[in-house]
Amino acid sequence: MNVGLKTSILPAGEAAVAEAARLLAAGGLVSFPTETVYGLGADATNAAAIARLYQAKGRPAFNPLIAHVGDLAAARRIARFDAAAMALAEAFWPGPLTLVLPKTGDCPVADLATAGLETVAIRVPSHPVARQILCAFGRPVVAPSANLSGHVSPTTAAHVQSDLAGRIDLIVDGGPVEVGVESSIVGCFEVPMLLRPGGLPRGEIERLLGRPLAQPPQDQAGDSGQPLAPGMLASHYAPRTRVRLEAKRVEPGEALLAFGPDAIAGVDAATPVMNLSERGDLDEAAARLFGYLRALDARGARAIAVMPVPHHGLGEAINDRLRRAAVERD
Ligand code: TXA
Ligand code: MG
Repeated sequence: MNVGLKTSILPAGEAAVAEAARLLAAGGLVSFPTETVYGLGADATNAAAIARLYQAKGRPAFNPLIAHVGDLAAARRIARFDAAAMALAEAFWPGPLTLVLPKTGDCPVADLATAGLETVAIRVPSHPVARQILCAFGRPVVAPSANLSGHVSPTTAAHVQSDLAGRIDLIVDGGPVEVGVESSIVGCFEVPMLLRPGGLPRGEIERLLGRPLAQPPQDQAGDSGQPLAPGMLASHYAPRTRVRLEAKRVEPGEALLAFGPDAIAGVDAATPVMNLSERGDLDEAAARLFGYLRALDARGARAIAVMPVPHHGLGEAINDRLRRAAVERD
């Protein structure tokens, strides 16, 4: 177990980037900001480092990781791009889009990171700190969200610290992230498929492709019996407190996660109330979502009532994460 490590926290800057690259090369685990959420990085070519990463997060090893690279040229060394994939990469990288593609014959990403699949998930992040680290390190970096498996994803360095202090080597603090929900994942199969709604709205992807994205089958199982996006199963973004969606009123003892300018019945008794966006802005709501879920969860309310959130733009990703947070657990 790598519990008991001394986890340093460095403010983003040249020294932090150099230390991050040094630790990654030595097989270490480094958390850094991306534009979507904080990631927990390891050398994608180092199976021992990846094994430590799964262990630090408590993540099942059948749930594959995203390889992060600095540019399209680096991505093409690890996966094969068809025309649709090229168009998506050229339009949206760097940015909050992950592509699932067939591996190249000499794909350097360790099999452990791809859970034995023939495909690999790749993304080119736009956050300057992530880019500097990828550039200094020079190899692909696998990076899941930097939370304990099953917790909500971290949008600040403090969230990372509360989940992973003592389990990883370094946290690079680049302040709060901008987008706040994880990248959209598109499987570049015969027809491009939206495997996970995320920080790039479906409408923008479909406009570029000139066609609707396919939906994953209900049970998420592909022909191989492998889930198409294995991490999307079950309750993946779960606070401990019960989450009640589509609330039209607040019940006694509940906290309220509000959206928009309107009040609902019972709001005066809610403890506490946090509003994702008073002005009804879905981008602002996405950026606040995980932090507010963490904060409300810490208040020990009977349940968290959640007001309806519109489904357009980033609303699809917000509603997806809320639905997962609301799955009943034992
Ligand atoms: O915004 C993001 O994507 C963040 C930042 C850190 O880049 N990362 C992130 O990673 O959300 P993670 O590990 O929390 O989620 C990765 C998702 C999982 O649902 C996993 O099952 C899926 O990507 N995935 C990875 N490789 C795959 C593959 N070959 N086929 C299908 N799904 C895959
Ligand atoms: Mg995650």
